[in-house]
Amino acid sequence: MENRWDIIVLGAGGAGLFCAATAAARGRRALVLDHADRLGKKILISGGGRCNFTNTGAGPANYFSDNEHFAKSALSRFTPQDFLELVKKHGIPFYEKKFGQQFCRDSAQSVVDLLKNECEGAGAEIRLNTKIEKMGSCAPEENGGARFWVRTAEGNLYAESVVVATGGLSIPKIGATDLGYRIARQFGLEVTELAPALVSLTMGDDFLRVFGGLSGVSVDSTVTVNGKSFRENILFTHTGLSGPAILQASLHWFTGDAIIVDLSPDLRLDDFLLAEKKAGSRKEIKTLLAERFSARFAEALVTEFAIPGGPLIEKADQKLRELGQQLHAWRLVPVGTGGYGKAEVTRGGVSTAELSSKTLEAKKVPGLYFIGEVVDVTGWLGGYNFQWAWASAAAAGSSS
Ligand code: FDA
Repeated sequence: MENRWDIIVLGAGGAGLFCAATAAARGRRALVLDHADRLGKKILISGGGRCNFTNTGAGPANYFSDNEHFAKSALSRFTPQDFLELVKKHGIPFYEKKFGQQFCRDSAQSVVDLLKNECEGAGAEIRLNTKIEKMGSCAPEENGGARFWVRTAEGNLYAESVVVATGGLSIPKIGATDLGYRIARQFGLEVTELAPALVSLTMGDDFLRVFGGLSGVSVDSTVTVNGKSFRENILFTHTGLSGPAILQASLHWFTGDAIIVDLSPDLRLDDFLLAEKKAGSRKEIKTLLAERFSARFAEALVTEFAIPGGPLIEKADQKLRELGQQLHAWRLVPVGTGGYGKAEVTRGGVSTAELSSKTLEAKKVPGLYFIGEVVDVTGWLGGYNFQWAWASAAAAGSSS
C-alpha cells in the first residue's frame, strides 16, 4: 500500500474531506484517514438528518473564540455562497428554514455524497477503519521530503504536510476522541479550555421541584448570558432547560454564570397587567398568565414568583410592576450542562494564537495544520459550524 503522500488529513469529517478535495484539486496527493467504519457519521445526524450545511449570514460575530477576529480571513475567502454553488453543482435540493439556515431537502446523505464525489473527482484517497495511533515529525532530507510520520495499525505513513481535522469531544459514541488536542500538546501548542456547547443546561432541585413536571413545554423567550441575547424558544425538560435559545446561550455560559430569561419579548407584562387592572379586570393574575402562556406553565409561575390569588383590581400597581419586571428578567443559575454525550459541539480547542488565520498552519510547526471543530472557533447553532469547517478546510487545502 502507498505510504508516501503530499498531505495526510487526520479525520474524514466535513472539514477533513473538504480539505483533501481542495488540496487534491491543486494536484497534491492527498490521503484522508478515519477510524470510523462509515463516512460522515456526524454529518448524517446533523440538522435532524437534513444537515444545516451553511448559514447565508455567517460572519465572525457568529463565532466564539479567544480571538474574535481569527475566523474573519478564512470565512471571507470561502463564503456560504461558495458552498451553495457547490451544492447546486451537485444538484442537491435545499431550502432555507429560518434566519439564513440552509438545509438539505431530502437527506444529509447528499452532503456526504458531495464530499465523497469531490474527493474522488480530485483524486484524494479516503481510508476508513484506520486507527491513528501516533504521529511525529521526521527529517525531510532523510525521508524523501516527508516532514511527518503517522502510525496506523497497518504501518507508518509519511507526508510533507499533516492536517488535523479530528473534530471535538462531542458525541463519543460515534467516534469523537481527543486525538487532535493530544497532537497539538505534543507539538507544544496551547489548547484553550474545553467545554460542551450548544447543549441543554441542567438546573438544581429548587427549579426542578417547580418546573421538572413541565417537560415538553416550550416558551418563546429571549435568553441573555454574558452580554449575548438569543430570541427563540426555551424548552422545559426533566433535567432543566433546552430548546434553541438555551442551546445558543450555552455557548456563552460558564459554570456559575446566571442566565436571564425574558418570558415575553413582544409584550411588556407589567403594562399588560396594569392595563387590565385599569379596565377593571377582576380576573386572577394566574388566569391572565394562563391566557398568554399555558395553564400548567402559569401554575408553575405562581409558585416560582409567589403570585397572590384574588381579583387583579385589588392588587397594588407597584406589585404588578415588580411582577412584570421579574417575568422579563427571570434570573436562573444553571448547575451544569447535558455534557459531551448530548452537546452539538466542543467550545475551545487549539489556540488561535498558535495558528495562521490565513492558512491554519501552526506557526511553530511548518506543515502541521488544524481545521474544523478542533480549533478554538465555535459557531452558533444554525449552520455556522459547518461553514467554519468548509472555510477552514478551504484555507488549509489551498496552502498545505
Ligand atoms: P467531525 O467531528 O465531523 O470529524 C472528525 C472525524 O475525525 C470523525 O470522522 C472521527 O471519526 C475522526 N476521528 C476522531 N478521532 C480519531 C482518531 N483517534 N482516529 C481516527 N479518526 C478519528 N453544525 C452545523 O453547522 N449544522 C448542523 O445542522 C449541525 N448539527 C449537528 C447535530 C449534532 C447532533 C451534532 C453532534 C453536531 C452538529 N453540528 C452541526 C456540528 C457539526 O457537526 C460539527 O461542528 C462539524 O461536523 C465538525 O466537523 P469536523 O470535520 O471538524 O469534525
